Amino acid sequence: MRKKIIAGNWKMNMTPTETKELIAKLKSGCDVKDADVVFVVPSIDVTTAKASLEGSNIKLGTQNFYFEDKGAFTGEISAKMILDAGAEYVIIGHSERRMIFKEDDKMINLKLKKAHEAGLKPILCCGESLELREAGTYKTFIEGQIKSAFDGISDSDAKKTVVAYEPIWAIGTGKTATSEEAEEVCKFIRECLSKIYSNDVSEEIRIQYGGSVNAGNAKELFGMPDIDGGLVGGASLKEDFIKIVNYKE
Ligand code: PGA
Repeated sequence: MRKKIIAGNWKMNMTPTETKELIAKLKSGCDVKDADVVFVVPSIDVTTAKASLEGSNIKLGTQNFYFEDKGAFTGEISAKMILDAGAEYVIIGHSERRMIFKEDDKMINLKLKKAHEAGLKPILCCGESLELREAGTYKTFIEGQIKSAFDGISDSDAKKTVVAYEPIWAIGTGKTATSEEAEEVCKFIRECLSKIYSNDVSEEIRIQYGGSVNAGNAKELFGMPDIDGGLVGGASLKEDFIKIVNYKE
């Protein structure tokens, strides 16, 4: 039985001061036991968030790092730095990083390897554009993303990876995939993982859906057999996130 994982991707929002205020609003309502709840904050907010989350079960993550250990990489931060600062999870391969910052499959694979080596728990994102969805080739594309990201990742590290299926056309657009559309792809991703590893391994990997998840659609989406929670953007910055975390009620 996979434990649900519901993560809030704050993106480039919230100063350290605002982080403290937002966590004060969300902390008690999001502190649940039957799901892993993760606040994925900007790296600059990790220390503040860690202090603010003390005494709760809410976990902390951040949104990026560079795959080298240290050195002359001005402006970058390492996996070890974010781990030492208190982050447990990290998002890798978000479509915004792929598109705006030109991160390619090779870099995403290097980051996935480094995250595991450092002891961070990666949330690996994949998902197709509207063009690929309409062309009907989205599954082939997603299979390619999964194969390349997991290249050289061991069975035990694969099990610790969370995959987030985020169709680009549903991110920040208010246009959610229907629960059937989301389930179809999450199930397909599990089949791809089963081919790469085994059925036993793929059954342990948690697969989230992301893209305009809100308080009104979370219950139906998270109720699907292959959807093990969500990666939530916009709605994670509001008290709505409490409703999403408590979607069963
Ligand atoms: P959204 O973002 O919930 O605002 O669509 C999801 C994401 O980008 O992770």
